[in-house]
Amino acid sequence: MYLTREEERIYNGEQGPTLQKMIEILVALGEIYDAEKLIPIKSAQIAGVSYKTIGNAGLEWIRDLEGTVRVPAVLNPMGMDREEYVRMGIDPWFATKQEEIVRAYEKLGIIPECTCTPYYLKRPAFGDHLAWSESSAVCFANSVVGARTNREGGPSALAAALIGRTPYYGLHLSENRYPTVTIKVDEPLRGAEYGALGFVTGSQIGDGIPIFKLKAVPTEDELKHLGAALAASGAVALFHVLHVTPEQYVLPSDRVEIERQMLESEDDWQIPERVFLPRARVEVDLGTLRSLVRGRRSDPDIIALGCPHASKEELEEILRLLHGRNVRKDVWVCTGRRMGEKFPELIAALRSHGIHVLYDTCMVVSPAANRFRCMMVNSGKALKYTPAMCGVDAILGSTEDCIETACRGGD
Ligand code: F3S
Repeated sequence: MYLTREEERIYNGEQGPTLQKMIEILVALGEIYDAEKLIPIKSAQIAGVSYKTIGNAGLEWIRDLEGTVRVPAVLNPMGMDREEYVRMGIDPWFATKQEEIVRAYEKLGIIPECTCTPYYLKRPAFGDHLAWSESSAVCFANSVVGARTNREGGPSALAAALIGRTPYYGLHLSENRYPTVTIKVDEPLRGAEYGALGFVTGSQIGDGIPIFKLKAVPTEDELKHLGAALAASGAVALFHVLHVTPEQYVLPSDRVEIERQMLESEDDWQIPERVFLPRARVEVDLGTLRSLVRGRRSDPDIIALGCPHASKEELEEILRLLHGRNVRKDVWVCTGRRMGEKFPELIAALRSHGIHVLYDTCMVVSPAANRFRCMMVNSGKALKYTPAMCGVDAILGSTEDCIETACRGGD
């Protein structure tokens, strides 16, 4: 792999052992995947923050590092809300360890914003190269924004942040971003059905790149949930939606029609889309998909929303669905602290109805979720992860269903 003079000096240890260790990680990855060189990145997002997931070994590894990140870098959610941890029932010992982890990252110049939706802090631009590690954020950045990032592990994202570069392979290259699987959905979907679609199809396509032909145009939040579930149930890092997501593709038959219109038109036409030839096809069973969304009746003892972290629009929807009622069960809504700081009145209104709005943490990475028996979620990703990570029984519902269940107090 080609290294510049400066990169070689780092590799030879001339800028200290931390940077040497970091560039070794990047070079090793680059060599595995045949990268020709390292390329500059615009930002990094680093997973491996909750003490629940990284433990003492992870804490010690980060604490031993030295240096300062060369690009803006933020963190994935941690194991607690730093201000609400007592009310969450977090052990003080856990809280101390969690603070130590965040401080160790801060010492490296990383901004202690702990969110899986870093695109709400600063939205990357189309074509930007990034090194992000949260799988749902990777899917969003690649698919909805058209930025370029591989699905980094925590250490490789941290290495990229400290070096300011990442190996040039995988989804950084245009030729690896073409769709490989077509998924046609014959009826319009809405809300949590997009998470269910990702949950059902992700496991079938593994690390393929799906292109969806949908009957309705999804909202940005629906695309966020689709990508999060695809990444959780499969290993998807990029998806396309025909005529919706920014890397436009057309089927060969569409191309013929476009060319015919071009010939007949006086206008100066351009075809921005790239033609793709799908190699595989997945049939979606709408019955299975819909029965997943609240098909199984159960009486949850917690309702957890905000996976991935809630947008302003999702917070507003929850408030609207409450119709002035108070909830009669534990309801968590997870979002980034910055979202709360931007919209304090919205957060205050949700809290006045009994909702626990939690910042910078989530139902999967916090140990506080482990004490519940059955969790109702509106997210395909949370449906996939909470049984294994929190030991709960999980059920999926629409946001409306979740709020109705919360206000009713029991089934
Ligand atoms: Fe985010 Fe936690 Fe879900 S990190 S995507 S809220 S599992």
